[in-house]
Amino acid sequence: MRLQDKKILLGISGCIAAYKSCFLVRLLKKEGADVKVVLTQSATQFVTKTTLETLSNNPVALEMFPADRFVSTHHISYAEWADLIVLAPATGNLIGKIANGIADDLLTTIVMAKRCPVMIAPAMNTEMYLNPIVQENMSVLHELGYLLISPGSGELACETVGIGRLEEPEIILKRIIAHFQTSQSLAGQRIVVTAGPTREKIDPVRYISNFSSGKMGYAIAAEAAARGAEVVLISGPTALTTPTGVARINIESAEELQRQVQKHAGKKDILIMAAAVADYKSAKVSKTKIPHGALSQIELKANPDVLAELGKSRSRPKYVVGFALEVGSDSKNAVRKLKEKNLDMIVMNDPTQPGIGFGGDYNQVTIFTTKGKPIELETMPKPELAKVILDMIIGKLSRKQA
Ligand code: CTP
Repeated sequence: MRLQDKKILLGISGCIAAYKSCFLVRLLKKEGADVKVVLTQSATQFVTKTTLETLSNNPVALEMFPADRFVSTHHISYAEWADLIVLAPATGNLIGKIANGIADDLLTTIVMAKRCPVMIAPAMNTEMYLNPIVQENMSVLHELGYLLISPGSGELACETVGIGRLEEPEIILKRIIAHFQTSQSLAGQRIVVTAGPTREKIDPVRYISNFSSGKMGYAIAAEAAARGAEVVLISGPTALTTPTGVARINIESAEELQRQVQKHAGKKDILIMAAAVADYKSAKVSKTKIPHGALSQIELKANPDVLAELGKSRSRPKYVVGFALEVGSDSKNAVRKLKEKNLDMIVMNDPTQPGIGFGGDYNQVTIFTTKGKPIELETMPKPELAKVILDMIIGKLSRKQA
């Protein structure tokens, strides 16, 4: 039983595919899950409370304020109870409400109060599904970390053929099982991630920096925390919010970054250096604003190479990952850095390629490790790449330990 003791809250909204959710409840129960079902008002047009109470062996909730009993803050209790919320089928209306912060019934209020991941399996007519507003709402939810199960194609209830069918209950079950397997894949590990640019002060009004947005490092930190790792994120100045479950330490200069990395990344930890460290700083920080005529005389001094120093030190973390920015994807340079900095893995990307790299939501990388061939990956959203990188690290570590 692969879902023993897992608490799953199944939200069903009003769509003919709701009948398939009855099968999903049976499959979840067979795997040992404790299932509670919450229906929207329209869902009751398609399935009954009695059917789902019988299948789940739990009371089924529907109303925010049922007339017959005292409920107090039951939306919060449901949100606290669940290990995973699954919305299947999710109508365009339900998706739209969640993406836009509307909580006007019990199910949407529970989702607003969520503490756990939310998986969404949409089902609707093809035109509705492809409507740009629905697509936009789904991409908002995807970026916020909601897990989407794309609908399948085939015959629809409206007697047309196209995309929009609720994914089969067996496939949704597989995704739920896979979710719980990966969600524990970094339990017991401590990961230190650096992200964003460093800022090297010149005088009270100027600094040397770069265009790093921090998105890649933040995506890695978020994914590592979601998989059960203890995550310390050492971050240069960015406009990003701290991912759930991550301890963030703000730094400005490369020297501050080095101090924090040395303090937090111990021998038993994994270090992922996604920060774009400024290679040079001003040799002397002026206390007063330097007149513009004197700016061309600023003397520069090299910053410490944080990664190289730690990679060679006695307190080197057990797995060290660097990022290499190589214009024209110069793999020789990336391999040289892998060796010279004594890394286990280096992730190479070309920040000058349109649509990827600095500031963008996508990245295209090649990954080099000390053993094995380089792996050239497709262009993908940074959160997806974070998953691939962590899967590779887990694979390498388990082989090391074996
Ligand atoms: N790095 C670091 N300290 C520095 C410079 C870089 O720790 N002073 C780390 C980065 O966080 C990254 C890796 O080293 O993980 C490679 O960074 P990159 O800027 O590509 O390489 P550099 O060594 O600075 O070489 P160059 O800029 O000449 O390509």
